[in-house]
Amino acid sequence: MAETPQGQGQETLSNLLQESRSFPPPADLAADANVQADAYDAASADRLRFWEDQARRLQWEQPWSNVLDWNPPFAEWFTGGKLNAAVNCVDRHVDAGRGERVAFHWEGEPGDTRTITYADLKDMVCQAANALTELGVGKGDRVAIYMPMIPETVVAMLACARVGAVHMVVFGGFSVDALGTRLDDSEAKLVVTADGGYRRGKPSSLKPAVDDAVRDRPAVENVLVVRRTGQDVEWNEGRDVWWHDIVDRQSAEHAAEAHDSEHPLYIMYTSGTTAKPKGILHTTGGYLTQVSYTHWAVFDLKPETDVFWTAADIGWVTGHSYIVYGPLSNGATSVMYEGTPDTPHKGRFWEIVQKYGVTIAYMAPTAIRTFMKWGEEYPAQFDLSSLRVLGSVGEPINPEAYMWYRTHIGGGRTPIVDTWWQTETGAIMVTPMPGITHGKPGAAMQPIPGVVADVVDESGESVPRGQGGFIVIREPWPSMLRGIWGDPERYKKTYWSRFEGLYFPGDGAKRDEDGDLWLLGRVDDVMLVSGHNISTTEVESALVAHPNVAEAAVTGASDPVTGQAIVAFVILRSEAGDGGSGLVKELREHVAAHLGPIAKPRQILVVPELPKTRSGKIMRRLLKDVAENRELGDVSTLTDAQSIQTLQEAFQESGKSDE
Ligand code: WT7
Repeated sequence: MAETPQGQGQETLSNLLQESRSFPPPADLAADANVQADAYDAASADRLRFWEDQARRLQWEQPWSNVLDWNPPFAEWFTGGKLNAAVNCVDRHVDAGRGERVAFHWEGEPGDTRTITYADLKDMVCQAANALTELGVGKGDRVAIYMPMIPETVVAMLACARVGAVHMVVFGGFSVDALGTRLDDSEAKLVVTADGGYRRGKPSSLKPAVDDAVRDRPAVENVLVVRRTGQDVEWNEGRDVWWHDIVDRQSAEHAAEAHDSEHPLYIMYTSGTTAKPKGILHTTGGYLTQVSYTHWAVFDLKPETDVFWTAADIGWVTGHSYIVYGPLSNGATSVMYEGTPDTPHKGRFWEIVQKYGVTIAYMAPTAIRTFMKWGEEYPAQFDLSSLRVLGSVGEPINPEAYMWYRTHIGGGRTPIVDTWWQTETGAIMVTPMPGITHGKPGAAMQPIPGVVADVVDESGESVPRGQGGFIVIREPWPSMLRGIWGDPERYKKTYWSRFEGLYFPGDGAKRDEDGDLWLLGRVDDVMLVSGHNISTTEVESALVAHPNVAEAAVTGASDPVTGQAIVAFVILRSEAGDGGSGLVKELREHVAAHLGPIAKPRQILVVPELPKTRSGKIMRRLLKDVAENRELGDVSTLTDAQSIQTLQEAFQESGKSDE
């Protein structure tokens, strides 16, 4: 390993991981790709004009007079323009004679299915929009949506967009408290929910949580309830309304008003690391422009022939942008799946790919690593030859997980697009392009055309090739957040104060010798070991590269000698058994051999599970508490609070006997 120059350790991330594999796009895909290399040239020659060209992919009822009004850090895009997001996602395709195209192949967890065409969707959205009007919900009102993954969730979002109400989707796995604080902050007047949904083979209720949350919140005037599971529900006369009672009797005609380009479309809360969740605000014209463009460009979408599947929940921004607004604005056919990947068996995802002939699949590295752990025999049972592009989102994808995905899911043919973005960016920002880029396992590669990203050091200077630092965005982009709901100061402070005039997403990154970008996780997670800033991602990737390791989480724990020391928690692949006593030593040596002795973990603990948020991100903050023998911090956003306690006990038992 090259020694970091004196004094640099505090300022830049060490660049430890060496990865030389690279995969050119398949020739046929490259020849026919929606986006060719000239897109980058066009965008750098005239960025605003490039985005205007992309905005023209949409249907505007009134053209914009100005592309961008930029009063840092507040941006307005396509001002003066008017459009309706629901019309763009639905009516437009029906009007063009494509009403019979399938919008969603919906698959319920118990195996029930629904096929929804664009014509069906148009009727459903219009009826729901009329129902919202009857319930007194109009332009600018906030509507909370707390739903399972069923078509009505999409319909409710689009009905809001149609009438100009602002939707605020809360993930159905969140607690009463999480729902309640979001209702307070957004001042929603309607909650759309269901009796329940199916998860892990059984009905899981939603309505009781809404009842609890709404009890002391008179601002919520109505609760609109979809019947999904048939579970018994308590009924609050005068407040609760069945979806089938009010929506089904509405007219399927609805004249949609065109809204201002900057009219609020939705609020999506991100928890961040501190107390109060941030209500990230997205508006209409710019957001739709960039999600529509990226969905078409990054996945090389051919709407006539592709079957697209984002295996994520609509309760996350990934679902908003790439289950709802991106695919529908492009007239795509998508799969939507209600349940979990191991119900009723561990091949469920691959069975769905085979059944619907999915051509493009998009999922999180945490899912991919879980599939690695289960073993390649599950996907091997199904015909996955329809797949032509694979996507990854939500976390850095370790090179080994990338290789597994490419090999066992993509049959060694498919390009993988490792898409870096955030709730705040609204749409994909840094990614390979499937028809152009020679993809490198673990690298998000380059900003998309029209996005200006950079990697800078502590003082905001661009770092040279071969060095690490902080990723920043230098110019406003169409789908950027317009602010934090009700808190402009927090918006400025969180994103725009670290580096003068630059948007700081909070992630570490490095620029390799070719100028390509590698995202290295949240800077809060970076470890400072003997004066070297080392990214948790690189150490985790080195561990996952060992044939016995499926998943790894790394954290820095305070250490009297080195400042911080590296502590790792690993999950073994199923064929590795319990690993045996020699394995930990072997893994420590393996990391040292891969990244250099500085990155050798002080301790490694083999665990059955890792603490994750409900969106699948590892909670390193809690692992740090464990590693430093501290009382655990806030565990309320964990999927399974018990697992971390078990892990803590195991850690305390293991002592420091690894030496
Ligand atoms: C954070 C944003 C992107 C929508 C879903 C998550 C991490 C996301 C990648 C990637 C490395 C990634 C970043 C980012 N992240 N994608 N491809 N490579 N890191 O949205 O919950 O707002 O999280 O997820 O740390 O800041 P989110």
